[in-house]
Parts: sequence; C-alpha cells; structure tokens
Amino acid sequence: MNWIPVKRKERLKNRPLPAEHNREFDQLFCQQIMDNQAKAAGVYIVKGPAIVFSSGPCSVLGKDVSDRKTTVRAGKALPFEYGEGGSIRVNLGRGGMVWEADMGSAGAYIWQDVASKMLEIRPQRIMLAGDSDAGKTTLSTYLTNVAIQQGLRPCVIDGDIGQGDLAPPAAIGAAVISGQLVDLKQARPDIFEFVGDTTLVGFEHIVTAKLNRIARILQGRCDLCIVNTDGYVQDGGTLYKQGIARELQADMVICMGPSAPVLSDAIKASSPCSYVMQASSAGQAIKSRAERAKFRLGRFLRFTGGRNAGIKSGDPSDLAFVYKNRIFSGKVLSEIGYLPVEQNVDIRPADMSRMFVGLGSGGRVEGFGIVTDISVRRISIQTGLQRFDRIYLSRIGLAESLNEEFRIF
Ligand SMILES: Nc1ncnc2c1ncn2[C@@H]1O[C@H](COP(=O)(O)OP(=O)(O)OP(=O)(O)O)[C@@H](O)[C@H]1O
Ligand SMILES: [Mg+2]
Repeated sequence: MNWIPVKRKERLKNRPLPAEHNREFDQLFCQQIMDNQAKAAGVYIVKGPAIVFSSGPCSVLGKDVSDRKTTVRAGKALPFEYGEGGSIRVNLGRGGMVWEADMGSAGAYIWQDVASKMLEIRPQRIMLAGDSDAGKTTLSTYLTNVAIQQGLRPCVIDGDIGQGDLAPPAAIGAAVISGQLVDLKQARPDIFEFVGDTTLVGFEHIVTAKLNRIARILQGRCDLCIVNTDGYVQDGGTLYKQGIARELQADMVICMGPSAPVLSDAIKASSPCSYVMQASSAGQAIKSRAERAKFRLGRFLRFTGGRNAGIKSGDPSDLAFVYKNRIFSGKVLSEIGYLPVEQNVDIRPADMSRMFVGLGSGGRVEGFGIVTDISVRRISIQTGLQRFDRIYLSRIGLAESLNEEFRIF
C-alpha cells in the first residue's frame, strides 16, 4: 500500500472559512484550503476534521457525493474516489490530513469482488471478521450502500463492544438503514443490547447470544443483515468468531487482515453452509491509540446525554438490576446492602458510584446513563432518558470530569 502525501502545490492558503464551516469544525484552529484538479480518475483519503467539496463525479464507499459537500468527522478517514474530470477541494481542521492513494489498494474499488459476490448469492446474513484496522467497518459501510443502491433494505448490527458506531462502548447497537451514508455513525440506532464490559473475555457467549437475538428481531424488517465485529481474532478470538458465525447461521462470512487465512479456514470448518471469503485491506492503520480513547469517551457522552443531561433519582428497591443477563430485584440491595452478581463478586453502592449503566424498561435497553450518587435508599443517575425501571450494570466508570474512564471491578 502506497500512501502518497498530496503535494500542496495547488492553492494552499490560510484564509478564513465562512461562518457555517467554523461551526461544523467545533473550534477550528487551522484552516487550510486545497484544490486538487484531477486529470484522471483517482482516490484521495481525507482524514477529518475536514469538509470536502467535490465537483464532478465523485463517490465515497459507493455513495454518490458528486458536486456535494461532505463532512469528515475528526479521526475518521474516508476515501474520495473521483472520476475523470472530477476535482475535490478540502478544508482541513486541526489534525485533518489528505493523502493521494493508489486506486488498486484503497477506496471501494478493492472490494468489487466482495460486492459482486454479495449480489450474486444474496445472503440474508453477512458477518465481517478480522484484525483491528483491517477495514471491517469501512467494508460494512460500502456493502450497506451497495445493497441500498440495489433497492434492498439492509440493517447493520455493530458487534464491536469496544468502539462501535451504533452504540456506546460495552453495548451493541443495530440500525435498519434506508439511505446511503459515508459513516455508520450517522445512522440512527433502532435496537440496543447491553453487555457490561468492553473486554470480551468472559463475555463471549453473552455477545454472541445478543447478536443473534438482534438478528432474529430485525430479520422481518430488512432484506439483509450485516454483522460487524471487533478486532479480537488472536488466541480465543478465532473460536469466538467461529461461534458467532455458527450461531448467526451467517450465509456469507468475510475475513480481513493478516489473520484472514486462518480465520476463514476455521470458520469454513465449523460453518459448512456459509460462503466464506477473504477481502483485501487498505492496509494502513490510521486510528491512533489517543484517537480511539477520544472516540470512546465521545460515544459515552453522546449516548448518556453528556454534561447537559438531567439527574433522575429514585428508590433502588423500585428498580431491577441486571448483570450478565441475571436480574436482581432492587429490594436485595436495600435488604442486604449489596448485589451478589457473581460467585465471589458483590457489588456495593460505593462500587456503583460513577458507573456507566444501561437503562431500560419492558426488557429493552432504551438508553444509557451514569450513576452520580447511590445509597441503599436512593439512586441518582445522569441521563437523557425520562423513564426506566431497569438498570444494566457495567464494569466501567466515568470520572466526574467525563474525561476519563476507569474499571470498577
Ligand atoms: N478501502 C479503504 N480505503 C481507504 N481507507 C480505508 C479503507 N478501508 C479502511 N480504511 C481506513 O483504515 C482504517 C481502518 O478501517 P476500519 O475502521 O474500517 O477497520 P476495522 O477493521 O473496522 O477496525 P477496528 O478493528 O478498529 O474496528 C480507517 O481509518 C479507515 O478509514
Ligand atoms: Mg471497526
């Protein structure tokens, strides 16, 4: 993979942007405008924060963005594939970048074989598995756009409990998608499931069952289910991915990254009815560790309502608490002073202070919050959700500054 930095020989100016652009960048410090007049078709990777104006033919992951403005959020890298005579102009925010890339190793062009296969075999359930940064989420987005272009209604289930696009960390989100998009984060989630941790070890069966449950719920509402997974493929990860493919009865499994050969052999052996294939990777990890941490915190804030969310208080004995699929009446907490959630693990009110929690009613997870104060008599939760009678416990705490997450137990 050759990532060639674009020479900023064309017009590279520090000139102020119109006010609307400043708002979108949320405190933009560095304003750069670059014009790239394309003489032939090609691909640029734009890493946000950036606003890209395309004139002439241009697409991002199968979505037509010709003569359009596309916003690229901070940390996200999108391939802009322009046709002959097309051009793009990029306004970069602080930390934003643009590369010219080889069409043979970046953009949606590298996945033509995957898209053709999907249209040929018309799977009901596609699963993507592979190493971290292999391109699973980007390929999921492309396949979603291809399906929509074909008049299908796809749903995406985001099984990455560490840093999913459709739910906060420690949860799974799913969305039925009706319009093409460039970033799955733009989709409105329809269903959540709460897992309670971002570390998979000990939670594999729970995640597998929840992915399967969502797929069954959504199957009547969409033509095709695209199940994206996390990058855990080493050690027990292969077994875990085999389990998901088998449980889901995925009829198409796409393996990516350096582990793809081993992974695809393992899945073929355990799910003989699936069509298993390997897909190319763009081959460049663009997400830094700091960006991942920032992304995760951003997701916690977005789904709990952040600093502006109100505080809801009540008596814990009127609520039910859930941990790893086990339900505990809040009366247990009032009576014995703790919740015996696992063998040798008791959760006391002090452990729940600043805990990130799922909130729901009627057995459904409907929102998220942070426990701000708790005793055996009273619990206060910061959340944007109005009503709930069930609290899904996690092992993650969020510092009062909301700038840091920590492990609770
Ligand atoms: N075909 C492609 N063209 C250009 N950039 C790509 C392509 N595929 C992936 N990328 C970039 O590579 C990086 C990793 O891709 P992506 O996030 O899709 O990987 P992932 O396998 O989902 O990673 P993770 O395991 O962290 O969830 C992203 O910054 C993405 O924008
Ligand atoms: Mg991903």
